Amino acid sequence: MYVCICHGVTTKKIENAIDNGAHTMKQLSTELNVGNQCGKCCQCTKKILNNKLIQI
Ligand code: FES
Repeated sequence: MYVCICHGVTTKKIENAIDNGAHTMKQLSTELNVGNQCGKCCQCTKKILNNKLIQI
């Protein structure tokens, strides 16, 4: 599923980036550009990040 429409970033891409060490919104934003344009994807990205960090 697309999370960030502005940059075409999917849930899978975000999860892979978290697995590879991006453990903050800033890191995800730097790596994938999520939240860098309209910001509408921030809440959904945060949710994915928090869910993944609980599992780690
Ligand atoms: Fe991610 Fe616009 S949807 S910055």
